[in-house]
Amino acid sequence: MTLSLFGDDDPAQPGRVVLGQQSVVLRGYALPMVDDLLGGVDDITAQAPFRHMETPGGYTMSVALTNCGELGWTTDARGYRYSRIDPQSGKPWPAMPDAFRRLAVEAAREAGFPGFAPDACLVNRYEPGSRLSLHQDKNERDYDAPIVSVSLGMPAMFLFGGDKRADKAARVPLFHGDVVVWGGVDRLRFHGVMPLKDMPHPRLGSQRINFTIRKAG
Ligand code: SIN
Ligand code: FE2
Repeated sequence: MTLSLFGDDDPAQPGRVVLGQQSVVLRGYALPMVDDLLGGVDDITAQAPFRHMETPGGYTMSVALTNCGELGWTTDARGYRYSRIDPQSGKPWPAMPDAFRRLAVEAAREAGFPGFAPDACLVNRYEPGSRLSLHQDKNERDYDAPIVSVSLGMPAMFLFGGDKRADKAARVPLFHGDVVVWGGVDRLRFHGVMPLKDMPHPRLGSQRINFTIRKAG
């Protein structure tokens, strides 16, 4: 028997951490596709580089972001929204790489959401000290589709809370290759990421790349 490093892995379902009724971590699910995924990140960032956007409240995000797919998530002084155009280049966001779409559709099905048809992918880059405060993903047009989140590079402590900001959040370590899926009754759960510690990853160094694949339009 293999012992889990963390007590929260479900021994009846190895490789799965159940976060809620319709939310799960699929440990290492993306590992077989890492080369394709990182190639995809390089293609995206060659056209639409990572940048630090401003929140409506006037803060500069510590996480740098870009997007691929028909719709990209943006923030500025006027608010949060999805846009077909990268405001920095004035051009459409890069296409969503096939590997991203395939992984997301398969992971969604594995988590109980068949027929996922994503049209948007937010790519986040964390450096040591970067954090993402508790928030809900609610700029999408409807909440029928799940969110599929893929982690690469340095580990992070993911916070998965309840439907209210004040609800206590579970702390879930996420590692290179892990995929989290939440949808259905869990679609609007608050979530965030604790400030990243510097634990350089053999392949990606002192960064963590996370992408969340969504149906936004
Ligand atoms: C997000 O909520 O957009 C990102 C979550 C993560 O980085 O794990
Ligand atoms: Fe989010």
